[in-house]
Parts: sequence; C-alpha cells; structure tokens
Amino acid sequence: MPEKLKVGVIGAGRIAEMRHIPEYLSNRNVELVAIADIDKVQLEEMGKKFNITKLYIDYKEMLKKEKLDAVSVCTPNYLHAPITIDALNHGLHVLVEKPMATSLEEADKMIEAADKNKKILMVGHNQRLAPGHQIAKKIMESGMLGKVNMVRTVFGHAGPEFWSPRGKWFFNKKEAFAGVMADLGIHKVDLVRWLLGQEVKRVSAFKATLEKAGDVEDNGVAVMEFEGGTLGILQVSWTLKPGEDNSTIFYCEKGMLKLFAEPDKPVVVSLREKGDYMPNFARGDMSFSLPPMQTNEVGGQFSSGVIDYFVECVLENKKPFISGEEGRKSLEIVIAILKSAETGSVINLPLK
Ligand SMILES: NC(=O)c1ccc[n+]([C@@H]2O[C@H](COP(=O)([O-])OP(=O)(O)OC[C@H]3O[C@@H](n4cnc5c(N)ncnc54)[C@H](O)[C@@H]3O)[C@@H](O)[C@H]2O)c1
Repeated sequence: MPEKLKVGVIGAGRIAEMRHIPEYLSNRNVELVAIADIDKVQLEEMGKKFNITKLYIDYKEMLKKEKLDAVSVCTPNYLHAPITIDALNHGLHVLVEKPMATSLEEADKMIEAADKNKKILMVGHNQRLAPGHQIAKKIMESGMLGKVNMVRTVFGHAGPEFWSPRGKWFFNKKEAFAGVMADLGIHKVDLVRWLLGQEVKRVSAFKATLEKAGDVEDNGVAVMEFEGGTLGILQVSWTLKPGEDNSTIFYCEKGMLKLFAEPDKPVVVSLREKGDYMPNFARGDMSFSLPPMQTNEVGGQFSSGVIDYFVECVLENKKPFISGEEGRKSLEIVIAILKSAETGSVINLPLK
C-alpha cells in the first residue's frame, strides 16, 4: 500500500470544487496529484484556487501520465460510466458521483469492470453518511420504533442552476438522462431503502416540467411499496421556494422518526405505544443535536465524509457499504419511477 493515496479528480466543476477537491486536500492520507476538465478556464481556475499544478484537459492523458491509485468521477451523468470503466481498467479505484450511470446496462458494466480489475467502486450517495442519517440507522436497527408502516421523504431546492451556474447539462436529457429524479430523487430512494433495510417491490409515479426550460422533469412524486410491506412517498422538486426541504419521516408501530423535518431538531424520535392516543399518555420525544446537514444553502458541501470513507475503504481494502451494486439498486428504482410516470402504469421491481 502506498504511503499516501495518489488521487485525481475528473470533472472539476461544482461538486469537485465544493466536496471532492477540498475533502481530498484535507485528508492526510491523500496526495491530490492532478485534476482534469475539458473546460480550460474552469480547470485553470480550480488549479489556482486549490494550488494544484497538474492540470489536464483530457482525462485519458492524466490516467496515462500520472501514477494514480484512485480517481473521483465528477462529470455530467452521461460520462460516469465510460470514464469510470476507463479508470477501473487502468487499475484505479473509483468514486463516482450519483447517479452512477444512465442505464442499468452501464451500471452492470461498471460493476463488472471493478470486479475484473479487483478495484473498489463506490458511489457518492453522501446522504447515507450525514450524521443525522447515521444516527437514524442505529435507531431503526434498535427496533425501538417497531415495524415501519409508512415513510415520506422529500428533497427539493430552487434548482441546479443556483448550485452550478455552468451546469446547463442538468436540463438536457441526453447528458443528464433525467431531471430532478436523477438528481435528488436518487439520493432519497437510496437513503430510504438503506434505512429501512427493505427493497422496493413496485412503484407508481408522476412527473412534470413546471417551471424550467429543458427536456427533463423539474418535479416528481412517487408512491413505493417495499417488500416488507412499508408504503412510501417520495416528493422531489427543483422549484421550491423559499428554501430547501431535505426531510424524511418514518411512521412506525411505536411512534415516529423525523429527520431534518423540524427546525433546529435534526433527529427526533417520538415514542407512543399502541393505544397511547391521548396527549397525556405520550411517552415523550427524544431529539439529538448534531452537526448541520450539508446543504447547498448552508455554505455548501465541505464535510460530507464521503471522501474520507472512500479513502478508508481503499487503504483498508474493504468493500464500501455504498458499493456499485447498491448504487445500481437505487438507479433501478429511479428508472422504474420514470417508466411509471411515462407509461401511467405501476412498475414492478426488479426490472426485467
Ligand atoms: N452527491 C451530491 O450531493 C451531488 C451534488 C451535486 C452534484 N452531484 C453530481 O456530481 C456530478 C457533477 O455535478 P456538478 O454539479 O459538479 O456539475 P458541473 O456542471 O458544475 O461540473 C461538471 C464538470 O465536468 C466537466 N466535464 C464535462 N465533460 C468532461 C470530460 N469529458 N472530462 C472532464 N471533465 C468534463 C465540465 O466542464 C464541468 O466543469 C453530477 O453527476 C451530479 O449529479 C452530486
């Protein structure tokens, strides 16, 4: 194992600037060697901002010339699969942003390439690593809330143009493959199936383009039935005002778990035994104080934990719990949701 992990970042846009580059730079086990971006102006700006001197317009040249151990793939969605496969075949470990691919065929090829080359493939589903969601996982696993009957999860903000003014590709189906479902929906689908420990059995969904120009949806809702019987609602939007909504509520046999649903109380457990329907019989609320959720609004995405965890997995040669296979399952649900919205029918999973 090298003394320091030699890393490159491919796609030096907004998520690279806000998360991958600064988090690699602050990890003492990493040497961030080079970055690549087809946009020369952006590349040079990022090189200057972070004091990185090895800059590549062509990522293939970076892979050839630099002796790297790992890369982050932070390009528009349609490039995730080809670049990831290329990097894996060069013998590098890969952290790819979400959604990992634009089709299940692509996702399969990425997983195959990781297996064939015996390299780590991790997907940037950072919601799983948010401290509030890590605590939530422990609460769910403790069984204190009993069976989960329903879950409602929401992710919305004003739109990607406020996050990445250069990111016109978000609104272009060819490059993004879908709109807010691929951007935000996949985060929540991934989070909920991980927290529940259940896979989705079938979905029914609607989507609409209500305010944004482009050929992708900017709002969407989906109803999901999980294999353990839990029913779920997913609501995603790129047109929310005035602020972001990034909340999830589990309605359970013995109470409720609220995640980022109450101001100043990121995680709240409200325990009510069966029959405690009168306010006086309440068993009480527990709230956990935690570092704030990383949001676009609250100064960006600097401490997601995603980079440190990826580095740890590579250095300790362990499979991440946010693996390619996990990213594929979440992608499959988003594809099913889009298909349901497009056909007006209920879609069963797994997809054929
Ligand atoms: N995990 C999260 O919370 C999160 C948040 C935002 C974005 N993302 C994901 O990160 C990815 C990038 O999003 P962004 O907001 O940074 O977009 P962006 O448009 O700001 O940045 C993308 C960059 O990729 C570059 N690029 C395009 N083609 C390239 C190529 N062939 N080689 C090298 N660079 C190339 C562009 O020039 C641009 O600088 C997307 O997949 C997005 O879904 C994840």
